[in-house]
Amino acid sequence: MSDPIHIVVLPGDGIGPEVTASALQAMEAASRRFNVNLAWEEHAFGGAALDEAGVAFPEETRAACLSADAILLGAIGGPAWDSTTPSKRPEAGLLALRQALDAYANLRPVRVPDVLAHLSVLPPDRVGGTDMLVVRELTGGIYFGEPRQYSEEEAFDTMRYSASEVDRIARIAFEQARSRSGRVTSVDKANVLASSRLWRERVSRLHAEAYPDVSLDHMYVDNAAMQIVREPRAFDVVLTANLFGDILSDLASTLAGSLGVLPSASLGGFSPLFEPVHGSAPDIAGRGEANPVAAILSGAMLLESVDQHGAANLIRQAVDNILTRGIMTLDLSSNGVSTSEFTTRVCEAIAQADVVPSTT
Ligand SMILES: NC(=O)c1ccc[n+]([C@@H]2O[C@H](COP(=O)([O-])OP(=O)(O)OC[C@H]3O[C@@H](n4cnc5c(N)ncnc54)[C@H](O)[C@@H]3O)[C@@H](O)[C@H]2O)c1
Repeated sequence: MSDPIHIVVLPGDGIGPEVTASALQAMEAASRRFNVNLAWEEHAFGGAALDEAGVAFPEETRAACLSADAILLGAIGGPAWDSTTPSKRPEAGLLALRQALDAYANLRPVRVPDVLAHLSVLPPDRVGGTDMLVVRELTGGIYFGEPRQYSEEEAFDTMRYSASEVDRIARIAFEQARSRSGRVTSVDKANVLASSRLWRERVSRLHAEAYPDVSLDHMYVDNAAMQIVREPRAFDVVLTANLFGDILSDLASTLAGSLGVLPSASLGGFSPLFEPVHGSAPDIAGRGEANPVAAILSGAMLLESVDQHGAANLIRQAVDNILTRGIMTLDLSSNGVSTSEFTTRVCEAIAQADVVPSTT
């Protein structure tokens, strides 16, 4: 057996503990097939940590996160903490965590298997088979640029990017493209914005110097929004700045039909963080109704980040296999099964799949 992979698990609030438990079961089942040794420890985070320690991101959790190989987060927040001051809310913990990890790259894969295409906002024959990855710059751009000012007469923000900020996020997009269909669409507004002109220039330069094998095209953000809706299957990796990525990743999320199936990764200078796109869903927490697919697929992305591609693929195939057999949770089907039933079926599919044992 290999050296253990150290994972910090932050179950959080609401359905967070339910879906992270499912993800861990699937990760454990897949790792067993490949002789991979997972070692995980849970730490308090979000509302649960506020109740326990009085802060959403306790020092002990922070230290554990910074020394982990990877972090798996459930979700945070809920009505119990809504009335507290902003610095005492669970969301403050999430921002502090991303900051501590210098998580500058947010990755959101949007896959729409044919079996789920009928749930999309788009017609099934247009959306089925969509498989895109939005790579969004997360720590720069207009959300952080200075100067910024607000008065009742006038307000402004600053959209600022340095060459090195563009290079590091573009590198991630090109690397991701190499392990997918090899295509990057870089989204900007270079016809109007100076920061976008620099963005386009740096992306093109990096492409020519280091990634000529990847195909690159540039698209203005307004056109990109239209094309994602018109022809989602035409996209592979979509590379965007912070503001554009915020909007386009939510737009792309609607293609999948349920929040419950969308995983994400946040990568940067320290341990990579993996979490479902959805929140803590207080309306269904504790009922065994949560869809664990987003968390399970986040677990697959985590395994990929530590080079366990075989185990990651096995999880993805098992999820597809179970969904294709019509076994789904209640958000996807009126005959839906419980979170634990769905998870058990995925783990069975993992245990029964034909695999060539290896650690890669
Ligand atoms: N990253 C995070 O932890 C995160 C992200 C978004 C919202 N939140 C927090 O979550 C709380 C609830 O927010 P919200 O209601 O706006 O968003 P939400 O994503 O929690 O829920 C939106 C709707 O989708 C459903 N849903 C979400 N995930 C589901 C799943 N896995 N299976 C089945 N149904 C699912 C919910 O039942 C709800 O009806 C708030 O406190 C919010 O601040 C946290």
